[in-house]
Amino acid sequence: MIKATHSIKNRKTANDIIYTPKPLAELMIELCDIQQVDKVLDPSRGGGVFYNNLPECNKDYCEITEDKDFFKYDKEVDIIIGNPPYSLWNKWLEHTIKLNPNKFCYIFGQMNLTIPRLRKIEAGGYKMTKIHLCQVWWWFGHSFVCVFEKTNKNSIMSYSERFFCECGNRCNRGKITTKNGVKTKHDPNKCANLK
Ligand SMILES: C[S@@+](CC[C@H](N)C(=O)[O-])C[C@H]1O[C@@H](n2cnc3c(N)ncnc32)[C@H](O)[C@@H]1O
Repeated sequence: MIKATHSIKNRKTANDIIYTPKPLAELMIELCDIQQVDKVLDPSRGGGVFYNNLPECNKDYCEITEDKDFFKYDKEVDIIIGNPPYSLWNKWLEHTIKLNPNKFCYIFGQMNLTIPRLRKIEAGGYKMTKIHLCQVWWWFGHSFVCVFEKTNKNSIMSYSERFFCECGNRCNRGKITTKNGVKTKHDPNKCANLK
């Protein structure tokens, strides 16, 4: 019998090491409008596709495999740019906000740009000022490059609370329920409570 050699949790961590194609990193750098005087941090350097391609500026990096842990980084920064490890998104955004850059630019997988995360970013005093949709051929689905800035302007992104059925209840519309072992598939286009 073949024994599983790693748990899903470990597999997830291994998947965190995903390098960004150089043209995409260059596009993100371009979106950040980096000036020579800016202190710029690549928080998860990996092979260096962001760090190595930054224009002339005051640059620094973190990379856990070199014992430079982003979560221990506490220097002043103006801009943070990179592709973070996906399993750490929430903690990563918290530390990014704590470092208080004027601007940060990250690439989110399509499942990773969520309303609670946008709320957290806005609560930290940032507005989304740029968004760029792209697809890397060998990554899952589409990705969003987002720039967040401390600005008085409105965010370019709006979002809604979850939509519920017009019946006003958290009804079973569109759901599959099981009662006494019997499965019922409820019509997504009709509500039993609506007359
Ligand atoms: C998605 S990869 C991106 C690598 C590179 N920035 C790129 O885009 O090609 C994430 C990187 O974050 C590193 N990493 C994971 N946890 C980290 C931490 N706590 N501090 C710094 N780097 C970390 C991983 O080793 C990996 O190289």
